[in-house]
Amino acid sequence: MSEDKRPERDDHTGVETTGHEWDGIKELNNPLPRWWVWSWLVSIVWSIGYWVVMPSWPLLTSYLEGTENYSSRQAVLEEVAAIKERRIQFGGKMLHISYDEIREDDTLYDFATRGGKSAFGLHCAQCHGLGATGAEGIANLNDDDWIWGGSEDEIEATIRYGVRSDHLDTHYSEMPAFTPDVMLSPEEISATANYVLSFTNLGEYSELGENTFADQCSFCHGESGEGMREVGAPKLNDAIWLYGGTLELVTQQIASPRHGVMPQWENRLDEMTIKQLTLYVHSLGGGE
Ligand code: HEC
Ligand code: HEC
Repeated sequence: MSEDKRPERDDHTGVETTGHEWDGIKELNNPLPRWWVWSWLVSIVWSIGYWVVMPSWPLLTSYLEGTENYSSRQAVLEEVAAIKERRIQFGGKMLHISYDEIREDDTLYDFATRGGKSAFGLHCAQCHGLGATGAEGIANLNDDDWIWGGSEDEIEATIRYGVRSDHLDTHYSEMPAFTPDVMLSPEEISATANYVLSFTNLGEYSELGENTFADQCSFCHGESGEGMREVGAPKLNDAIWLYGGTLELVTQQIASPRHGVMPQWENRLDEMTIKQLTLYVHSLGGGE
């Protein structure tokens, strides 16, 4: 008897099987959904049209350019040129007028702070954070507590010259190390740390602390811890800390102070970017 060549039908659904079988499970030969077949055909027709119009197939030494002569590289170059043009158009103007004058021109001010924000993301955020909120040892730029000053000119100087950086005009000041038993006794250090924290009611006041502070610290940090911009000594009588406001951290700072370094940017960024950054940083928490 000859074998039946007709495809087998599944009893349950009445659909033909493909003849594939795994562990007794048979594959049904359902047709592809119509919408799928149509999308497939349309995409083939579309792609043929696309090859004709847009750059497509590679050739030996070049490629099919397409009737539109489109080049993504050219498109980027044109966009970049347009941005440069806009920068020069605005920026050229920005370079020669004061911060106040820029602020009076809404479009220019908007252009400047936007540019400043993107430059900040590029050059500053790795230390200061994207929102400029700072980190341990790195100044928060959103508050109105400024180590080196929060006017535009002061901010510009900090950006231009940096802090303890490789520039002749860099901001410089160094808190000396009050090494225990050499410069001050451990009791004096502890009393002074407590005295510093007593400005914000977090430490214990003592006469020893007050006297040591007056003798050793006040000529930089001010008599009541108000800080001094000329030497970059931070305010100690507020709750804003560079290195932390606990007894342990303040004691540590007195015995072996850290000295923050902020790079100078004058030799790295163009004048316009520095101006934009200044306005942006000032817009965050600037003041006098
Ligand atoms: C390598 C890390 C680092 C980078 C990058 C950096 N900074 Fe700083 N910045 C610091 C540190 C640290 C301080 C605190 C300096 C100090 O202790 O006096 C500081 C301080 C500042 C201050 C002074 C804050 C105050 O209270 O007076 C400004 C303004 C500032 N940075 C802006 C910028 C801008 C704008 C950029 C980008 C162009 C930038 N910084 C890039 C580390 C950095
Ligand atoms: C020569 C000036 C100078 C003297 C003297 C000095 N400091 Fe400072 N102090 C600084 C500077 C500058 C900084 C900031 C360091 C930095 O920016 O990294 C600082 C930072 C600090 C901080 C950290 C503040 C923070 O926000 O985290 C504390 C606390 C402090 N000093 C306490 C003292 C005490 C207490 C004394 C006296 C025993 C003292 N300082 C003496 C200049 C001085």
